[in-house]
Amino acid sequence: MGSRKKLLLGNWKMHKLRKDVPAFMESLLANIGDKNSWSQKLNFGFGVPATLFDVALSTTKNTGVKILAQNCHFEEQGAFTGELSCAMLQECGLHGSIIGHSERRQYYAETNTYVGKKWNSLALKGLLPVICVGESKIEREQNKTFDVVRQQIDDALLQVSEDARKCEFVIAYEPVWAIGTGLTATPEMAQDVHKFIRNELSKHFGATRSGTISILYGGSMNAANAKELLAMPDIDGGLIGGASLKPDEFAKIIKAAL
Ligand code: PGA
Repeated sequence: MGSRKKLLLGNWKMHKLRKDVPAFMESLLANIGDKNSWSQKLNFGFGVPATLFDVALSTTKNTGVKILAQNCHFEEQGAFTGELSCAMLQECGLHGSIIGHSERRQYYAETNTYVGKKWNSLALKGLLPVICVGESKIEREQNKTFDVVRQQIDDALLQVSEDARKCEFVIAYEPVWAIGTGLTATPEMAQDVHKFIRNELSKHFGATRSGTISILYGGSMNAANAKELLAMPDIDGGLIGGASLKPDEFAKIIKAAL
């Protein structure tokens, strides 16, 4: 269990222009120091808009910082106007993609089935799927959190082939009511769900493998609350929106995780 390296992923959503990226990366990397000072203990990266793929990759070359997409299409190619395939993401040199973010589920009607197909396609292309799950405020109030999260994982997995299941993936638990609201799940609340998720994963992947899978917490994680959240036994890192937009704030979260 202690062998899981912490993973911090910034989710830039629809923020930043190309001109902003070099200064951001320079400032962040200057702040946290050389790769040798952090890479033993954690990995970090950013899910960025497609317009920033190349500039984010070139400004982080050889630094160990991982650059991911925020969405993908599951088909290899085809008549899907406006979409990007996993082959396209791979060709750009990305590390993986966030999928199933609650904003995509809410505004673009993304279903568990779609999320599963994307998981499958990313994995088969050697890209890291970061699968977001989490309950809404009403679902939590109705004590449906575990049911919702179980269904999100089970339905998605129906689309994931045997070969794709062998590949690495990350789950991000993001209670919808905590995203961008300043409300954070308490470390205990988050730990309860993370433990539940790990237990569910062990039903599909076995206990040994499930002990190696990173489960990130997302929802108003910031420099002030990161340390407490990351101290919980099943919280292996964070998916961080607002607090990933400023290099000094994100650097503080990295330092809290070290
Ligand atoms: P937040 O966003 O940190 O701004 O709450 C997290 C996310 O949506 O991934």
